[in-house]
Amino acid sequence: MGSDHPGYEVKGAVVALLQQLGHPVTDMGTDSPERCDYPDYGERVAIAVSAGEADRGVLICGTGIGMSIVANKFPGVRAAVVWDCYSTEVSRSHNDANVLCLGARTLAPEALLDLLRYWLTVSFAGGRHTPRLEKVQDIEARNFGGAADG
Ligand code: RB5
Repeated sequence: MGSDHPGYEVKGAVVALLQQLGHPVTDMGTDSPERCDYPDYGERVAIAVSAGEADRGVLICGTGIGMSIVANKFPGVRAAVVWDCYSTEVSRSHNDANVLCLGARTLAPEALLDLLRYWLTVSFAGGRHTPRLEKVQDIEARNFGGAADG
């Protein structure tokens, strides 16, 4: 779990919800409402997911966009900005997103919590989406220096 200053306040409610749902949470900051830089916190969470130290990540900034840009720089991270039920659902069922990016300035706190709750219930659908994700992995390997065979 991570946020910058716009997401600081709602982050407390997100951590509480995740714990209430039985998920162990590591809060990687920010730790105050002071202005800060979203890449510093997006990077921490993305490293944890990329390294397999965390199964999922949740990132909050003003819009979710900056956090998603940062998180998607890391191998194995599929970060998705969501803003409604449909984008939340397909981020899991089609994209198998493992990092959820939310906007504290674009979503009311209750809506943000509802989308998170929903995101945690949706599974990857597989099927036609599996070869598409494999193509994403190939692109990642070619462009981010991953170990590509052949
Ligand atoms: C901070 O003002 C804002 O730029 C940041 O939270 C985020 O929205 C960036 O994508």
